[in-house]
Amino acid sequence: MSRATVAFIVFSAVLLLTATAYNNGLGANPPMGWNTWCTDDVCGLIDKCTEDLVKQQAQALVDSGMKALGYEYVNMDDCWGDKQRDANGNLQPDPTRFPNGMKALADFVHSLGLKLGVYTCIGTFTCRNQIPGSWGHFEQDANTFAAWGIDMVKCDNCNRPSGFTEEELYMNFSHYLNQTGRPILFSLCEWGDDNVQDWGVNAGQQYRIQMDHLPLWELPTHAAGMGFGQGTYDIIQYIATLKPSTFVKQYGWMDPDFLMTMFWPTMSFIYSRTEFSFWALWSSPLMVATNVYNMTAEKRSILMNEEVIAINKDTLYTAGDRLWKDNATATEVWTRPLANGDVAVILLNGDPFANNNVTVTWASLGWGAAAVVRARDLWSHTDLGNLTASFTAVALVPADMRMLRLKCLENCS
Ligand code: GLA
Repeated sequence: MSRATVAFIVFSAVLLLTATAYNNGLGANPPMGWNTWCTDDVCGLIDKCTEDLVKQQAQALVDSGMKALGYEYVNMDDCWGDKQRDANGNLQPDPTRFPNGMKALADFVHSLGLKLGVYTCIGTFTCRNQIPGSWGHFEQDANTFAAWGIDMVKCDNCNRPSGFTEEELYMNFSHYLNQTGRPILFSLCEWGDDNVQDWGVNAGQQYRIQMDHLPLWELPTHAAGMGFGQGTYDIIQYIATLKPSTFVKQYGWMDPDFLMTMFWPTMSFIYSRTEFSFWALWSSPLMVATNVYNMTAEKRSILMNEEVIAINKDTLYTAGDRLWKDNATATEVWTRPLANGDVAVILLNGDPFANNNVTVTWASLGWGAAAVVRARDLWSHTDLGNLTASFTAVALVPADMRMLRLKCLENCS
């Protein structure tokens, strides 16, 4: 065993014993932003990540009004790095894609009032196996990112060295990011391994909870949370088993991966709207992996739905859980308490073929059966009136849902 490895083991043990949350003030709300991954490509298969694209998308966040709603991170995924470190062992950007370097790009993004994020990997190479990862260079890379003016680091989990737990590795990188003195939001992309929901909050402000979200509604996998990518519906089913309200908290957000909003041709308007609703119900990061320049009206109506974004940012800082599921009809109801005493509810028809009615009763929400409840539909932006006993979403088409904000007015207990 090399001296460096022994030093790493001792250092990690000390860090774990003295672990406190990585809180540098960033991540008070679930982070929102845009990422190169899947933007008009096929999630890394045709990667168009360039300086011009990043600048165009950053400008579009401002011009579209998305920035004003909280979308502030402009992130590059597994695409920005050169295949070699420089003569001093520093990471460097691909000179063809980023001819002016990272510092200049960070300056541009900051001039728009936005923040810049990069991607690296806890292992020797990134997941596309072409670009160096940060293993063996945690301190050096943290310092490089800080010197460039980087605001967010996503750290992937490929080509991980053996002999260490993921907690040890991510805590270690987190330590060096912290040590730079620059507030950097740390996004753990370790795919939900090793019960990350128990310790991820100590290392960073958000942690991936499962394998990659593919731009599909359904792609069942062999085991919940594992396997080759997942559709939106699979993720909803998996997260139901985790009861996210038991661990989601401010500065420690559960990340179900990017929003694949309107990814053509596999993410329809209905799939995308349902996806956005659940991510918001869970207080999850709203990181869009879609082109935000010249958005269609449908895409805008999803990404810029202020009433749903308000659920995402609600100051109880918790996540919704599934209240029940009827396996015969694949219908289900999710709920989440809100800071002002309201309750957010999603009624989902998961049946792939049949339309279904879905009913939520006030009694099931802990209110009296005779409760009078004011209901607001967060997608049609209409008040549904003061309702007694229950609400039924009628003839929901497959994959569709209704998302409501409920306020109990009378007979609440
Ligand atoms: C992994 C991650 C993805 C993406 C790719 C990049 O699959 O989980 O989010 O960053 O690597 O290669």
